[in-house]
Amino acid sequence: MRILIVAGVFLIPLMGQSLRELADQRGIKLGAAVDPSHFAEAAYAEALAREFNQVEPENAMKFGPIHPGQSTYNFTSADAIVAFAQAHGMSARGHTLVWYNQLPGWLTSGGHTPAQLSSILQEHISTVVGRYAGRVYAWDVVNEAFNGDGTLRSYFWYNSPGIGLPGTGYIEQAFRWAHAADPKALLFYNDFSAETINQKSDAIYRMAQDFKARGVPLDGIGMQMHFTTSTGSLGSMEANIKRITDLGLQVQITELDVRLPVNSSGVATSAALATEAQIYHDIVAMCLKYARCTAVQTWGFTDKYSWIPGTYPGFGAALPLDSSYQPKPAYNSIQNALQTGRPVASAEGLVNAASYRGGAIAPGELVLLFGATYGPATLQFSQLNSSGAVPAEWAQTRLLFDGVPAPLLYSRVGQVAAVVPFSIAGKTATQIEYEYQGLRSEPMTVNVTTAVPGVFSFDSSGQGPGAILDASYRLVSRDHPAHRGDSISLFITGGGVTSPDSPDGQISTTGSFPALAVLPRVSIGGVDCSVQYAGGASGLVTGVAQVNVLIAAGVPSGEQPVSVSVGDAASQPALTVWLE
Ligand code: XIL
Repeated sequence: MRILIVAGVFLIPLMGQSLRELADQRGIKLGAAVDPSHFAEAAYAEALAREFNQVEPENAMKFGPIHPGQSTYNFTSADAIVAFAQAHGMSARGHTLVWYNQLPGWLTSGGHTPAQLSSILQEHISTVVGRYAGRVYAWDVVNEAFNGDGTLRSYFWYNSPGIGLPGTGYIEQAFRWAHAADPKALLFYNDFSAETINQKSDAIYRMAQDFKARGVPLDGIGMQMHFTTSTGSLGSMEANIKRITDLGLQVQITELDVRLPVNSSGVATSAALATEAQIYHDIVAMCLKYARCTAVQTWGFTDKYSWIPGTYPGFGAALPLDSSYQPKPAYNSIQNALQTGRPVASAEGLVNAASYRGGAIAPGELVLLFGATYGPATLQFSQLNSSGAVPAEWAQTRLLFDGVPAPLLYSRVGQVAAVVPFSIAGKTATQIEYEYQGLRSEPMTVNVTTAVPGVFSFDSSGQGPGAILDASYRLVSRDHPAHRGDSISLFITGGGVTSPDSPDGQISTTGSFPALAVLPRVSIGGVDCSVQYAGGASGLVTGVAQVNVLIAAGVPSGEQPVSVSVGDAASQPALTVWLE
């Protein structure tokens, strides 16, 4: 909440956007560790659902609480958390399957052999992960397995007595069991004091490299981030995030809190609160710089309930809301970081909207940009502007090619559709910037080519039966195949410039349509077929072309490959049409 001071007299409270709304526009998870015994407290439940889009059990899924007897599970608390998440449209994250702490007595004093422990752990992982499959999207599979010097921690699951696997083999095994129980869940290794580059984070990095190289199902590294006011070097932390995400792994910040010295009433100085706010800001801002940093989660969310005072006497005030659920300076600084970080976008996410192929782009090509990290939380389809054209800005989103904003068909965080401006014609490369709410990405340089034809299909692989009409405008399919001697219409994008020139974003509505400057060639079932027309069509935006082609007599029956070529450039393979 911000306070607006008018003439120094009136105080008008302005509700800014909640952290959750901002995180949704960032396409990231903003989470909190929770204790379901507080759900009945309205202020707790309301603040949680208003400010966060993710929950994780602070304790309820740990081995001891969830598996209190060898043949007894207690899912009550974990179920309540997952139900809360579902009721409020939040994601649920699981914590944790393999840890040295909070193990039940039946297990640690059970005198089991490694072979027995191996089957106990396998059964535990498959039961717990399996129960929440589809409802818990990510798991901390293994927690805190390394010492500060990078050696493996000696403990129950590793070597006292362990499950019988040397080195990181027991960790690998746990990941494989978790993956078998829920192949869609994202699996994380989670640890503390491994944020900066140090002996522990080096050891984790080496394990991650090894797991990636051998196909062990590891999706990311969790960084706990239990901080005091001295966090260690932010530059070193960022270098660590960079090297992990460069492996193709995600980073999630899993247990962020900043403990402050407090007086006997639990109150911290305003200077300490300001330092805390700066740390929260800097951590969120750092995460937003990496598209693969996908979550920021705090360990609790209100100072009313935090593990800090109990575990670190003399410390407290570690979270963004105070003990009355009011925003602290840390809350405002998280909000500020979420509002001011530049979006991140990558040319690797830029593909032809019909073929889903990337690389070079052509003037007028309808493209999709996947993965830009700031945008509308929900899909916003554009509407034609007062000149009847597709607008060059929609929902505060723009995609600029050498500074020229492209007609935008829709926008959502992580996916926009735009028509490449014709002004890039004749260039060898273009600089593309993605923009949302006035904040721009770093420019991406992409090569420009004359044509990159793609044929529209119904599949997001760009393959399979094309979106092809027969002469009576009926969709061609297995049930309604086309016939030799018929004329069919294909729809393509990336065919290049037209003659006469096509203005950006214009919708063709008149009888005279611009034709593709270079007539495409079409082959069906390996046989060249004659192209009768290639150019604009009623109701289509410039850059999308209709191609009418006569199916030659020699084309075989069945599902036949279709290829459209403009100059040297051919459309995607495995695009087909049904013939009888
Ligand atoms: C802590 C909980 O917050 C406490 O309530 C509990 O008594 C002990 O565990 N790293 C972790 C978390 O991965 O599971 C720990 O949670 C805090 C340190």
